[in-house]
Amino acid sequence: MANPILIAPSILSADFAKLGEEVRAIDKAGCDWVHVDVMDGHFVPNISIGPGVVEAIRPHTTKPLDVHLMIAPVDPYIEAFVKAGSDIITVHAEAGPHLDRSLQLIRAAGKRAGVSVTPQTSETGLAYVLDRLDLILVMSVNPGFGGQKFIPAMLEKIARVRAMIGTRPIRLEVDGGVTADNAGDCTRAGADVLVAGSAVFQGGKYAESIAAIRTAATKI
Ligand code: DX5
Ligand code: ZN
Repeated sequence: MANPILIAPSILSADFAKLGEEVRAIDKAGCDWVHVDVMDGHFVPNISIGPGVVEAIRPHTTKPLDVHLMIAPVDPYIEAFVKAGSDIITVHAEAGPHLDRSLQLIRAAGKRAGVSVTPQTSETGLAYVLDRLDLILVMSVNPGFGGQKFIPAMLEKIARVRAMIGTRPIRLEVDGGVTADNAGDCTRAGADVLVAGSAVFQGGKYAESIAAIRTAATKI
């Protein structure tokens, strides 16, 4: 049977002045995971949050913290994000030449390991690290900012990654520009975790927005 669809609001679109409250609000509103976007102003042209913030929000939810590291180099920081309380740590395939080692570091720390690919990166290289993976994150915008438009060509990539995963217990996450309008396209292509930043936080009705995305995502 297919995995249940999971909704992971990105706190990049939350009010940073009251992050603990925002995390509690999306938890109560029915999110499955809390997506945390970490940006370094080097790998991506924006700076967001670091391990100290992950540690600060940890007590505000028991749901998995899905930490998306858009940083390079990444290996020197993995331990800090492990200690901060991350559950899933995702690194970018483009962040360095030693993806296999990064994934080993995450798994050795007892955490779930993910790899993300930006829009231009082919999924083919992932074939060699599948056994080290718990999650593949297909970026459907260029990483760096919330509120961008979904790139439709990524639906084909999602379908290819789904085929590559086969029966392995690997989650397939899509991140960037996801709304209730395209959630169904994403899940029909094979995604089973949907990240949504602005679509959840804009408008302030978190439970309604999460439910709308979930309903659209589960429609065949
Ligand atoms: C982009 C981030 C995304 C982004 C999602 O670099 O990885 O998680 O914040 O935000 P929306 O849903 O607004 O595109
Ligand atoms: Zn993200």
